Amino acid sequence: MLKKQTTFLGITDLSSLAYLDLDMDTRDHCYKVAHYASAIAVAMGNQYSCQVFLAALLHDIGKSKIAKEILCKPGELTPKEWELIKRHPVMGYHLIKENPSLMPFKEIVLYHHERFDGKGYPCGLMGYDIPLTARMISIADAFDTMTSTRVYREQISVEQALQELIHCSGTQFDPELVRIFVDLFKE
Ligand SMILES: [Fe+2]
Ligand SMILES: [Fe+2]
Repeated sequence: MLKKQTTFLGITDLSSLAYLDLDMDTRDHCYKVAHYASAIAVAMGNQYSCQVFLAALLHDIGKSKIAKEILCKPGELTPKEWELIKRHPVMGYHLIKENPSLMPFKEIVLYHHERFDGKGYPCGLMGYDIPLTARMISIADAFDTMTSTRVYREQISVEQALQELIHCSGTQFDPELVRIFVDLFKE
């Protein structure tokens, strides 16, 4: 369990409701990612933890434009389907651009699948060129994906997922943020 629980359930800003366009599984995922990412922000004393929560809530909004048969397909995706899924950060960016109240989140949505070593997508940004909030969401996103059951694979334990984050620290993830996140689970 997380040492510090963080929730911003009191937020009534309309921007947080945009994610209701998503299917239930993705919505559930986004909510958990928002919880984990904002916990990192709070642990850092980041005064914008509320914005981190909202940005994480919207991070996969581009998936609302992808057919559910592909998103929830059991088994392996075809290369073409995988290419389509990989476009969701760009699709999300364009959706956000259409709504002035969501503008502060557009870069974060676009860059949440970038990797610290520059091998991510869609832009191949590297290290601290990736916005801080997007680096937080990347860790929270991977952690929730690993610890949740999906139609195409089984979940792994919290301990195994934390070990995997440590293993990918400095390559996929910002090492300092991984350290902060792992510390949140220590007694
Ligand atoms: Fe994503
Ligand atoms: Fe995600």
